Amino acid sequence: MIILGIETSCDDTALCVVEFTEENGKISCNILANAVSSQTELGIEYGGVFPAMAKQEHIKNLPIVYDYITKETNNIEIDAIALTFGPGLEPCLWTGITFAKELSDKLNVPIIPVNHMEGHLLSSLLPEFAVDKKIVLKDFPDNAISLLVSGGHTQIIKINKLGDYEIIGETLDDAVGEAFDKVARMMDLPYPGGPAISKLAEIGRSAGISQLKFPRPMLHSKDYNFSFSGLKTAVLYHIRDNPIKSDEDKVAIAREFEDAAIEVIIKKIMQAIEEFGSTHLLLGGGVAANKYLQSELARVSNENGFIVYYPVREITGDNALMIAIAGYFHQDKKNSHQDLKADGNLKL
Ligand code: KG4
Ligand code: ZN
Repeated sequence: MIILGIETSCDDTALCVVEFTEENGKISCNILANAVSSQTELGIEYGGVFPAMAKQEHIKNLPIVYDYITKETNNIEIDAIALTFGPGLEPCLWTGITFAKELSDKLNVPIIPVNHMEGHLLSSLLPEFAVDKKIVLKDFPDNAISLLVSGGHTQIIKINKLGDYEIIGETLDDAVGEAFDKVARMMDLPYPGGPAISKLAEIGRSAGISQLKFPRPMLHSKDYNFSFSGLKTAVLYHIRDNPIKSDEDKVAIAREFEDAAIEVIIKKIMQAIEEFGSTHLLLGGGVAANKYLQSELARVSNENGFIVYYPVREITGDNALMIAIAGYFHQDKKNSHQDLKADGNLKL
């Protein structure tokens, strides 16, 4: 089965064409084409994403990216379109829906609506990224939880079975990626802030710089919820009272901020793993690229004997591959697409 994946929920216009095959209960995918047109450059200019501007960019980029991938695949015939319809910025989601509907009519293929967060959740099933290669997906585990960490979400999810999810905890205010971005902005680091902070934090860690202490909000709360706005505010007050004078000041802040944010996440994950006796953790979302988060998860999973599925770097951020994968698993949702609507607050 050949699926065209389309993702436009935020500031990336991403399309892909993937061929899925199934043999002895194993699902393989062959990525025939994969392309992203990112608006990060615009984000750098304006320090964030603006829905109206992002929408215009999607409208401009969708046909260009589509042209590119049809050329890459020599106009290969597709069987279905997998499309993000939420959550995300509604004006952006609509650009994908409008484009997909026209294409669906033209090619006479169904649309499989996909929840963007389920895409992130399933992204870690892909063990490697390679184009024109048959890649066997990891088995979907029976007893797993998922950690989804991005610019818009911080969630711990209990997976009952594929397609049946329970959010057991989430952030009560800022998402962890958002906190990285905001703290980066306070230090005049480029957008998106996650990678920049992480780089500085790594320098601080290997140099043993640890003179600061920021709070670990909700570390001891018995639930699985998070709060990152207090940590962000602690950084703001620290900078107000101790203006940044050197790169070393930035390194110290980045290191302590990252330590604090990741410590809370690891604590809650361990709590959930213990409570539910989970054997697997599926990691997803833009912040999944964070090296320190990955190394801390590697440490605690070794110590406690559970398995972590890490998404490969190419699909930690927003991408169309995870949407195509989720679409393949949800072929039952092929709908008559006339009533398909964007849902900015779609829940898992
Ligand atoms: O999933 P994503 O691409 O978009 C959303 O759906 O939000 O996630 C983007 C977020 C941004 O906040 C970015 O700063 C963060 O992921 N991020 C990171 C790292 N790479 C990206 N945060 C921490 N460390 C990183 N290495
Ligand atoms: Zn995302």
